[in-house]
Amino acid sequence: MNTQKHVCPLCDYIYDQTRGDPVYGIAPGTSFDSLPEAFRHGDCTATIDMFETCTCASLAFDEVTGGAPRFSQKDSIQEIFDRYPAAIDVFKMHGVDVEDGCLFSVRHLPIEECTELCGVEDLDKIVNDLNASLLPDLSVQSGKRSLGELVAENANRAKVFDEYDLDYCCGGKVSLEEACCKNGVDLEAVLLRLQECDRLEPTENSFDNASLTDLVDNIESTHHKYLKDELPRLEKLADKVARVHGARAPQMVELAYLFRNLKEELVQHTLKEEMVLFPYIRRLDSEAITRPAQFGAVVNPIRCMEAEHDDAGKALVKIRQLTDDYRAPGDACGSWLALVAGLESLDKDLRTHIHKENSILFPKAVSVEERLILV
Ligand SMILES: [Fe+2]
Ligand SMILES: [Fe+2]
Repeated sequence: MNTQKHVCPLCDYIYDQTRGDPVYGIAPGTSFDSLPEAFRHGDCTATIDMFETCTCASLAFDEVTGGAPRFSQKDSIQEIFDRYPAAIDVFKMHGVDVEDGCLFSVRHLPIEECTELCGVEDLDKIVNDLNASLLPDLSVQSGKRSLGELVAENANRAKVFDEYDLDYCCGGKVSLEEACCKNGVDLEAVLLRLQECDRLEPTENSFDNASLTDLVDNIESTHHKYLKDELPRLEKLADKVARVHGARAPQMVELAYLFRNLKEELVQHTLKEEMVLFPYIRRLDSEAITRPAQFGAVVNPIRCMEAEHDDAGKALVKIRQLTDDYRAPGDACGSWLALVAGLESLDKDLRTHIHKENSILFPKAVSVEERLILV
């Protein structure tokens, strides 16, 4: 596509053939030569024959943020304002008076060429701040939101919390601010990383529009199935490593004992979900509920499941300690290596599993039940 642009010499308006001009009803891709002779922009009196060819680089569109522009030093000040009028505040914040007459003649030049004229030293900072100001609102206010809620909105954010060891599964109800405070982590640094994550990676599997049945089906077919396949396999491996290497590595004996208990608890836990809680949640979805179940409100079994999730979370922490953060010694046998790799995957899957139940499924089930029973 032709990306040539034309600049108005009177007001520095830029016509971009790639974009057309939605304000004046010009479709994207309309070449400058095809514009009607009577074409005008705003209050400017310039006629179309007065425009000059503009040499500044194209703005790159950020597909992730839904077409919001991301800026570079190749973009001109005018072009940035055309697309993003609020950029004026960012320039002002850096002491650049964009309304100053001395900038007028260079407004259509790439900003990197304006450096000396503007007297700006840190252009990178301006560009970074411009891009940061385009990001979804993850202001300091987001610190008041819970970790679980933030991950429910975009599952990719879990990676950021993992980097800072912030527990979004069992600790998902804690606010980001409080979690940072408890862990001695800088809230602003986490917010910046979250912004970066939102910008670089598309929102993943937020389950925003998923029905209760979809959620339960998803949890059973992925996480419960995973546990059914992996728990027996890992139990055998843990027993074998403890038996063969326990004398020189007593922590592996403790690990095997701990894992056996965790396995039993998880088997009972998933059974309760599949036999009692999930069938009720599916019925909530069909709106066939008009009065509370035998166990009372759904929040009662949910509290019990959440307490069991907490226990599983504590077991994971202990397993992580006993395996030195899922590392096997240099001379470890194949079973030991397989055990450690399997435990690490289990940790990851179980935390996602608990997050989906605690922060997405359970709150939704409570609110649907309240609505149905109140109606
Ligand atoms: Fe579950
Ligand atoms: Fe569960």
